[in-house]
Amino acid sequence: EQATARRKDAHLDLCATGDVEPAENSTLLEYVRLVHCAMPEMAVEEVDLSTDFLGKKLRYPLLITGMTGGTERAGVVNRDLALLAERHGLAFGVGSQRAMAENPQAGASYQVRQVAPTVPLLGNIGLYQAVELGVDGVRRLADAIGADGMALHLNAGQELTQPEGDRDFRGGYQVVEDLVRAFGSRLLVKETGCGIGPEVARRLVELGVRNVDVSGLGGTSWVRVEQLRATGVQAQVGAEFSSWGIPTAAAIATVRRAVGPDARLVASGGLRTGLDAAKVLALGADVAGMALPLFRAQQAGGLEGAEQALATILSGLKQALVLTGSRNCGELRQKPRVIMGELKDWLAAL
Ligand code: FNR
Repeated sequence: EQATARRKDAHLDLCATGDVEPAENSTLLEYVRLVHCAMPEMAVEEVDLSTDFLGKKLRYPLLITGMTGGTERAGVVNRDLALLAERHGLAFGVGSQRAMAENPQAGASYQVRQVAPTVPLLGNIGLYQAVELGVDGVRRLADAIGADGMALHLNAGQELTQPEGDRDFRGGYQVVEDLVRAFGSRLLVKETGCGIGPEVARRLVELGVRNVDVSGLGGTSWVRVEQLRATGVQAQVGAEFSSWGIPTAAAIATVRRAVGPDARLVASGGLRTGLDAAKVLALGADVAGMALPLFRAQQAGGLEGAEQALATILSGLKQALVLTGSRNCGELRQKPRVIMGELKDWLAAL
């Protein structure tokens, strides 16, 4: 359990200041252009981005995706970012609750309900830890923090780059099926930066999963994070695979096409601006997710720093709606957009 906590703090240090977003990786959102409307005929204050998520109302279709927990430092990150979500009407997820499952005393760092009583809150556990804990164990983790839903994270790429990581990925869909039975529409399945493609998404939705976060390539790379901690073979293979994955723009567009209009889709992985968020909403996401930019803003400037970063994101998002002449996400999705270059190749292949 000490090892889990130590690994978590090493991860936070690397994510705060390390080179965890390889420059050669891309979301491919630069190959999406929303089309300017010279006569918007609307006011900024008319933009209405509210939506439902996990049975609650969001003022903005944004999720601060699961990052941390298990140490005191992680507790501060969770409370600051959850408070930010509460103030602005966003959703929030805690990081992997593995540390808390191993050591109940670590649980305090995941408790955010005091500062965020009304946010849609997601718990978090890895697919293979869910096997060890069993359905009841996972349910206890969600209940212990008053979560509205549970995020199940997939991270085969990270595990293979981690010396102590999993090597056997059989039986995953069975676990998902069991969790669907327990959580129903409160279950969300997410990747961690390598992307969920249309094939896997379709199978998940067929099993009854209602919420999918594609978490694609182009932002924080967990293969890179582990590569920076690894030595020998793992470090070398990690370097080889640090650009592995389905770019976020390709993942969200093809997954929406594959699963139809009913599934709730989050797009995350490398979104850094309000305009990035607008682009994934146009491509089919119901909610845009971000991790690293808000974490870094919080680490550099505390709650105030995170407030400023979020203000810039929200302002860019609203501006994108006005300049496309869209009052809401439904209208934005109907507007023309230009898809270029490598993204076109992905859309043709998947
Ligand atoms: C993460 N991420 C993550 N995901 C998860 O499901 N459980 C976890 O415990 C963590 N831990 C974590 C820590 C930190 C510091 C970061 C930055 C990220 C992954 C995260 O939720 C997201 O899927 C990816 O980081 C991609 O989004 P960004 O960071 O590119 O916006």
